[in-house]
Amino acid sequence: MDKIIILDFGGQYCHLISRRIRDFGVCAEVMPSNTSSKVLQTDKTIKGIILSGGARSVYEKDAPKFDKEILNLLTPILGICYGHQLIAHLMGGKVVSEKFGEYGLMKLNIKNGEEILARLGKSKNVWMNHSDIVVRLPKSFMSIASTEHSKIAAYANNKQKIFGVQFHPEVSHTENGDQLLKNFVIDICQCKKSCTPTLVAQNLIKETREIIGNEKAIIGLSGGVDSSVAAALVEKAIGKKLIAVYVDTGLMRDGETKFIEETFRKKNLNLKVIRVEKQFFRALKGVSSPERKRKIIGRLFADIFRNIAKKERASFLIQGTIYSDRIESGLTQHSSKIKSHHNVGGLPKNLKMKLYEPLKDLYKDEVRKLAYDLDLPKKITIRQVFPGPGLAVRIIGKITPERVKIVRQAGKIIEEELRGTEFWKNIWMSFAVLLPIKSVGIQGDRRSYKYPIVVRVIESRDAMTANFSKIPFSILERISTRITNEIIEVNRVVYDITNKPPATMEWE
Ligand code: XMP
Repeated sequence: MDKIIILDFGGQYCHLISRRIRDFGVCAEVMPSNTSSKVLQTDKTIKGIILSGGARSVYEKDAPKFDKEILNLLTPILGICYGHQLIAHLMGGKVVSEKFGEYGLMKLNIKNGEEILARLGKSKNVWMNHSDIVVRLPKSFMSIASTEHSKIAAYANNKQKIFGVQFHPEVSHTENGDQLLKNFVIDICQCKKSCTPTLVAQNLIKETREIIGNEKAIIGLSGGVDSSVAAALVEKAIGKKLIAVYVDTGLMRDGETKFIEETFRKKNLNLKVIRVEKQFFRALKGVSSPERKRKIIGRLFADIFRNIAKKERASFLIQGTIYSDRIESGLTQHSSKIKSHHNVGGLPKNLKMKLYEPLKDLYKDEVRKLAYDLDLPKKITIRQVFPGPGLAVRIIGKITPERVKIVRQAGKIIEEELRGTEFWKNIWMSFAVLLPIKSVGIQGDRRSYKYPIVVRVIESRDAMTANFSKIPFSILERISTRITNEIIEVNRVVYDITNKPPATMEWE
């Protein structure tokens, strides 16, 4: 399959570039900025290379490493922001640091609307985020667009097919940014559209067969869409050599274990249901730190998987890790650690199993498309996401069976009240969080001193950013009344009105 490589110079939007390209049906893969030209040269499916943005200046000593030979590969190249400056710098142009940068929307005046800027018109609003600018171009390059502050906001070397844009076409604020990326990928690189869910699934099945071969594998099945898709894919590749393990930690949603048993017993999976509620409560007793909770849970999961793997002689552990889990766990080249997603950063190093994560480069909505393509039951495909560490990260402070019961029941009420409303289809997650404090209330003419529940309802496309849902007060009021009436330990309900960023979706 034709593909575009994006070299990651650490820009916060780097992975979005691959996302945009896949959205119009072309395969795209992010690789480290220091990938060698030899590696890229030997892969004949690579039709174009994009150098991403990044926070550094080309003059900084610890700027990301880059193999200059890549510029001589005769493969079309597009530099974005830092990539635009780097190409100019390495090919004989000049980059300078400006006292004042360009941040936010800027008017782009297009001088030469061909090739990379074709079909963009005369001027466009574009998203800028830089302080360095290109002030002199290498030989045979021409400036094709400018802004008030930058004479060379885009350049082209049409003969060598090397282009640069100072702005970010991948960011949705840039008007017609998709068109610019399409010009590069479809017209200039001539990529065929072969990145359909069916082909992605076929490729992943093939890759799985190659990697696992005749060995046995186990998969941690949580019932969420990610692990279900990973299980379905791997089962298609290795059949009965896959053992699916569902661990009932005692921290699951209401009715979860029954749901999993009913849904997956019918599928062709060897399903093992392990009930270890007591073990989890014992290990988590007295623990308040969110990262410690995640690490303890990760270690317990690993112990369980290791024991089953030993008994079954399985050498691979499959996980349904997706891209946003990895980036938040700080596992991509330049990402900082937000939290140890238990299926990535939470797993101990001495796993003694080979780890395979077929969905590691996909976003949630891409995984859902795969779920449809693999014919997974609709109740799995449209399910709300549920975090691996379960209700443990929805109870702030210490975890007790009483608190788990409260948060589980409150979550069930929230879901029941939202399901069936017009808002339901846009909701990524709706859940309850229990705070480890108490406040005064009045119930039945008496003073009460009880827990508050936070209602969190979130809308998101890909988990990287999210907005709190603007559901009407009437629904919130019903939720509040039901929670305070039906859960004896709660006398107050609050609504979380924070987006991501600055908050994350979960509270821990
Ligand atoms: P945050 O809270 O990081 O959550 O904004 C983004 C999405 O990821 C889910 N999440 C997890 N999923 N293991 C998982 O499989 C984890 O450790 C984990 N932590 C958060 C979260 O529910 C949300 O949908």
